[in-house]
Amino acid sequence: MAELSVTDAMLQRGSVRAYTDQPVPADLVNEILELASHAPSGGNVQPWKIYAVTGAVKDQLSQAVLAKAAESPSGDKPDIPVYPNGLSEPWRSRRYACGELMYTALEIGREDKMGRFEQAAKNMVFFGAPVGLIITMDRALCESQMIDIGIFIQSLLLLAQERGLASCPQTSWSMWSGVIRETMDIPENEMVLIGIALGYAAAEAPINHLNQARAQLSDFADLRGF
Ligand SMILES: Cc1cc2nc3c(=O)[nH]c(=O)nc-3n(C[C@H](O)[C@H](O)[C@H](O)COP(=O)(O)O)c2cc1C
Repeated sequence: MAELSVTDAMLQRGSVRAYTDQPVPADLVNEILELASHAPSGGNVQPWKIYAVTGAVKDQLSQAVLAKAAESPSGDKPDIPVYPNGLSEPWRSRRYACGELMYTALEIGREDKMGRFEQAAKNMVFFGAPVGLIITMDRALCESQMIDIGIFIQSLLLLAQERGLASCPQTSWSMWSGVIRETMDIPENEMVLIGIALGYAAAEAPINHLNQARAQLSDFADLRGF
């Protein structure tokens, strides 16, 4: 494993949406998850639960979700809203720019509804990654524990990066919470929060080189009393 500073892992990680077939062994998945569990959590409650799927189990999940999507393209009722109704500025423009950058790289025009739908559907096959993670949280917990889960996820993404693995967090999986629970036999008390694609990047794919912009420090940081 190449040594990678936290800074380099932060700067080198990007959402990867095209993968090679190279498998990710269970030991490596377990190692990353175990290390990520050293993430802090309020009261050390460790609210995360992770299902990792590969091979036929992953394919079965994708098939079930794709079949459901063909029937009702707008999705199940998600356990948590993915965005608020009527996303306002500056977040709306950022989200728009994010999508445009991706579709431009793929040469899928704004009028090409089918092209955009097909790209969105690739979420449901984890963009071809050999491993998919589904992260759930018990309904008995509350919003604050989602902060813990966010910290866990970023830890996991950086640990993957350190090991040469690429990833893409995907809230699109939460649109299919019902069919995911049914197919994977996940209890009703667990909310499906997010999926994560995990594998080795198809290095040459243009979609893997988006370099999404970030707001300037002064747009989000307010230092006082220094
Ligand atoms: C919580 C979360 C949910 C996301 N959901 C999706 C998704 O469903 N599909 C997708 O293609 N990318 C998804 N992304 C990736 C974001 O679009 C990406 O992180 C953002 O554009 C910044 O780009 P970067 O990750 O390459 O730095 C998600 C990212 C996060 C953190």
